[in-house]
Amino acid sequence: MAKVEVHPNGASLARATAEHFVDLANRCINEGGLFSVALAGGSTPKAVYARLAGEELDWGSVHIFWGDERCVPPDHPDSNYLMARKALLDHIPIPPENVYRMRGEIPPEQAAAEYEQELRDFFAGSNGHQPSAFSYQPTFDLILLGMGEDGHTASLFPGTSVLEEKERWVVAVPHETPPPPLVSRLSLTLPAINAAAQVTFIVAGGGKAAILKQALSPPSRPILPTQMIQPAHGDLLWLVDQAAAGSGR
Ligand code: 6PG
Repeated sequence: MAKVEVHPNGASLARATAEHFVDLANRCINEGGLFSVALAGGSTPKAVYARLAGEELDWGSVHIFWGDERCVPPDHPDSNYLMARKALLDHIPIPPENVYRMRGEIPPEQAAAEYEQELRDFFAGSNGHQPSAFSYQPTFDLILLGMGEDGHTASLFPGTSVLEEKERWVVAVPHETPPPPLVSRLSLTLPAINAAAQVTFIVAGGGKAAILKQALSPPSRPILPTQMIQPAHGDLLWLVDQAAAGSGR
């Protein structure tokens, strides 16, 4: 069952999300020696990453991935990596080998296959599996997600075939219709996201009120991609601001 926390405004939402990140990271590092997190793209998480840049954390035990990426070079203004690098990575003592960038600058299918192998190697190693065994899942300790006004999350857009993917963990997504930017994407799939121990949506702004109300309602046809995020064994948390929650919540 999803848990929803409503915060008064964007600043308190960013603070609460950063605190949630740090608390979970400390718990995972204390219990298992590392913390694996997939960052969300878009603009909402930027304030969270800026707050995290000031947090005391054992960054050497944190492993940072992405939930999705635009197929652009890492110095392109549309790059989710660039946003996180400027807001967070440039300000923390994280070893470069702990940052797993989706390579948006190479052919999308090649980048998706490469990233999937990186995930398989990482989660095989951290869970004691052999990379050849396909029985294990990418059990991220935390996946941060945003939501678009059309109900997409990561780069899983309504009505697209990637929503049917049952095996692969990372896919290349052609993207030629709004929302912008109209570039191909790389995205974790539903199986990969739903294997996480904790999935946390962060949603802010009155422009998201209508879609958030729909996303938190019992699914009706067509089911939104965000409503397909149902962690099999993990927890689902929505951190939203009052504007997105709409009046009267
Ligand atoms: C992306 C994101 C995408 C984003 C939503 C919300 O690459 O654009 O991963 O899923 O989270 O579109 O974006 P905003 O936070 O900018 O509203």
